[in-house]
Amino acid sequence: MSDRSQRTATCTANSNIAFIKYWGDRDPCLRIPVNSSLSMNLEGLTTRTRVTFDPKLAGDQLTLEDQPVTGEALARVSAFLDRVRQMAGISLFAEVRSSNNFPMGAGIASSASAFAALSLAAAHAAGIALGEKDLSRLARTGSGSACRSVPAGFVEWQAGESDEDSFAFSIAPPDHWDIVDNVVIVSQAHKTIGSTEGHALALTSPLQTARVADAPRRLALCRRAICERDFEAFADMVELDSNLMHAVIMTSTPPILYWQPPTLAVIHAVQAWRRQGWPVCYTIDAGPNVHVISLSAHADRVAQELSGISGVSKVLTARPGRAARVDEDY
Ligand code: DP6
Repeated sequence: MSDRSQRTATCTANSNIAFIKYWGDRDPCLRIPVNSSLSMNLEGLTTRTRVTFDPKLAGDQLTLEDQPVTGEALARVSAFLDRVRQMAGISLFAEVRSSNNFPMGAGIASSASAFAALSLAAAHAAGIALGEKDLSRLARTGSGSACRSVPAGFVEWQAGESDEDSFAFSIAPPDHWDIVDNVVIVSQAHKTIGSTEGHALALTSPLQTARVADAPRRLALCRRAICERDFEAFADMVELDSNLMHAVIMTSTPPILYWQPPTLAVIHAVQAWRRQGWPVCYTIDAGPNVHVISLSAHADRVAQELSGISGVSKVLTARPGRAARVDEDY
């Protein structure tokens, strides 16, 4: 690509929900995690991003939801674009315009869909052809969980030990298992302590070593449950893994408590439904919202009951989602 021409690309990526969580880095700069993780892409909960490398620009520009953004968020995007520029051998600055169709910073992984969409759009606009593995590696350097939004369906992120071997791949396509994520929004406020800061605190919890040591076992059981479509075994691992991550979070120095009263009300409701034999379980990311996973045949009833819980403002539903993609029609 010539350094004098303008090049643009628009891409869309889904958010994802981790069943086995990423919490803590072995290398925070490259975002090499301390444990492998497992997730599902969320169809319809998307970020759409347009990247334009433009010789007329004197610096990178970032617009989120039609609002110009500077400061830390722009610096993070700019550092990421430096990596792409280096790979492509170009020095042009870029205009990045991005929008989500879900609330940012409240426990739906907006950084995952954001950096997956940005990776694909930036690579495409810069004229570098990356396969899924290398795209996933690139996305990981922007936000760890973003590497899992690159491949389709049910996705494993192999922790690896270096930039080369830390990437995500699909373990089953979206149509493998008809489950639904009922995303229970209890607060749309931006979270006070972001994941990046949280990862850095993980080892201050005496529980992190035990959580990480047992992670391969949980991941193997969860992977098997997904492959065999065994909801009971899946539910046990998903709830255990979420509880372990929040135990670490609550016992870090300083401690963090992401849960709000309605978060707990939803956990209790899900536990009661499970006791009654409903195929349902909960998992919570770094925020107060609860992801209630159910078999799709039960999703309408689950979503209806969840909407009736005091403090619940909205329930979004998402099925297993597609891979990150270039918007050809743009
Ligand atoms: C709780 O990927 O958001 O959602 O790499 O610093 O951007 P950064 O962290 P991020 O961490 C995700 C944490 C989590 C669990 C998960 O998605 O695995």
